[in-house]
Amino acid sequence: MNKLLVSLLLTLGITGVANAAEPVKGDAAAGQAKTAVCGACHNPDGNSLAPNFPKLAGQGEKYLEKQLHDIKSGKRTVLEMTGMLAAFNDQDMADIAAYFSSQKGSVGAADPKLVERGRALFNGGDVEKGLPACTGCHSPNGAGIALAGFPHLGGQHASYVAKQLTDFREGNRTNDGDATTMRTIAAKLSNKDIEALSSYIQGLH
Ligand code: HEC
Ligand code: HEC
Repeated sequence: MNKLLVSLLLTLGITGVANAAEPVKGDAAAGQAKTAVCGACHNPDGNSLAPNFPKLAGQGEKYLEKQLHDIKSGKRTVLEMTGMLAAFNDQDMADIAAYFSSQKGSVGAADPKLVERGRALFNGGDVEKGLPACTGCHSPNGAGIALAGFPHLGGQHASYVAKQLTDFREGNRTNDGDATTMRTIAAKLSNKDIEALSSYIQGLH
């Protein structure tokens, strides 16, 4: 065997090991084929029509992939999806995340009566309560920071958003990591704050 081939094989071998430790890369086209069962609730393109089913279209890939792992493992409880992810491996979930992330998200409308309060809280937080602005992590237009896994919120159904904020506040959703970022933030929100923020987010783009 010549030297070049040996070094090439060594390089490939080493790269192979390195790849095994890295997260799997999603393939959107392969993902679409795996989402037939999801469309009933989330719509085939991920722009769900029912306000209690979250829109997945345009959501950050990293965030989606994390949620799928959390839902599959039971770290996040979604009763409606019980058993649905059982047959999917890491590659399947990466593919599904890539597919929904590649779709264009739709936007709803905010209640004009709630916009002012919602916008003030979203953009400025509340100094007295020690509430940080949402924009720092979810960005002013609600796009989030995909690479950091900070979810896209703009255009999401208000009912779904309100349920998540309430679940974080009441400790019913606990998959926000050891830093408990969202639980700490939601603990400072009143029901009226949640109503205003959720409505504002629904119309945000
Ligand atoms: C029977 C209805 C139903 C079906 C079918 C369903 N889901 Fe869900 N899904 C839900 C509900 C309801 C939630 C939100 C639960 C909550 O309020 O926390 C959810 C949440 C999610 C989330 C988290 C979204 C976010 O913004 O955090 C992802 C990702 C997801 N579903 C992906 C899927 C995939 C992929 C499939 C198909 C394999 C699927 N779902 C099938 C009802 C469904
Ligand atoms: C320091 C960063 C940070 C700040 C500030 C922040 N968030 Fe979050 N938020 C996150 C992260 C990270 C997640 C995802 C947690 C997970 O992985 O499940 C999240 C998740 C959410 C979700 C759930 C999204 C979904 O699709 O289920 C909502 C809703 C939300 N945040 C709203 C807000 C609102 C409203 C504010 C301002 C009052 C806010 N966040 C401030 C980091 C932040």
